[in-house]
Amino acid sequence: MKHTISQDEFQTLASEIKLLKKERKAVILAHYYQRPEVQDIADFVGDSLQLSQQAANTDAEVIVFCGVHFMAESAAILSPDKVVVLPDHNAGCPMADMVDADGLRAYKKRVPGVKVVCYVNSSAEVKAESDICCTSSNAVKVVQSLEGDNILFIPDENLGRYAAKLLGRSLQFWPGYCKTHDRLTKEDIHKAKEEHPLAKVIVHPECREDICQEADYVGSTAGLINFSQSSDAQEFIVGTESGILHRLHQVCPEKKFFLASERLVCPNMKLTTLEKVKAALKTLSPRVTVNEEIRVRAKATLERMLAL
Ligand code: 13P
Ligand code: SF4
Repeated sequence: MKHTISQDEFQTLASEIKLLKKERKAVILAHYYQRPEVQDIADFVGDSLQLSQQAANTDAEVIVFCGVHFMAESAAILSPDKVVVLPDHNAGCPMADMVDADGLRAYKKRVPGVKVVCYVNSSAEVKAESDICCTSSNAVKVVQSLEGDNILFIPDENLGRYAAKLLGRSLQFWPGYCKTHDRLTKEDIHKAKEEHPLAKVIVHPECREDICQEADYVGSTAGLINFSQSSDAQEFIVGTESGILHRLHQVCPEKKFFLASERLVCPNMKLTTLEKVKAALKTLSPRVTVNEEIRVRAKATLERMLAL
């Protein structure tokens, strides 16, 4: 995928960032949904699980998180001695904002003994109120690790339903969803299949249930990349955020990828630009911190997942 800035601008900014990064002893982590040029200057590009593992293990002094707020917050939870910066403080996740700690506490009061699985797309405060965290790559494994049937999955109803269906379990769901993946319709998939009859359909489990049913493979961003690499197929209809196409083209240059809908763009993920990354390294802001009492409890929730 092409950069969204000129090649000259890219070269200049990339070398400025490289120097600043060395000065600051910083590491740059980026999600697969980031702009192509941001992915290209990052030290590590990954899915939510891989990024949280990197954040927990790095020995850098500064983490520049090119993603959305909850991701930087997870880095601050796991690495409290490091400076964590998010290049644009408005880069939030609308799905994460669909559940808050007060609402969750009220639910737990209404349903005594309920165990709460929280998707990593949630605030530190919500994680602190939950029993175990999960990402889209390990949701099934996390739910499987819990006994009984008094389990609440928050905030992504689609991912929760997907995991429940695979395991044949009955779960309670929170009515949250990703505004970007929700834009994908069955009609989009049918149209793409008509245009590319030989293509495999690969989608993220944040898509609606009826979309996942149409897919040949459902998985996290890293899962979709691995599947495309190992599959014999040469063409793929991609049902997740557009930024992933950059990595797909890099790892499978000979294969063809078609975004299932032009509407699959997360505006929050696109807020990060190289100019903002440079400014964040210069000023070490906007900084993301977490209240210590909440951090300790949220860390336990994240670590129960990482231990699996
Ligand atoms: P994964 O990278 O874990 O698949 O998550 C997708 C996502 O929506 C991140 O906001
Ligand atoms: Fe949140 Fe969806 Fe954007 Fe991921 S793609 S950050 S879940 S709004």
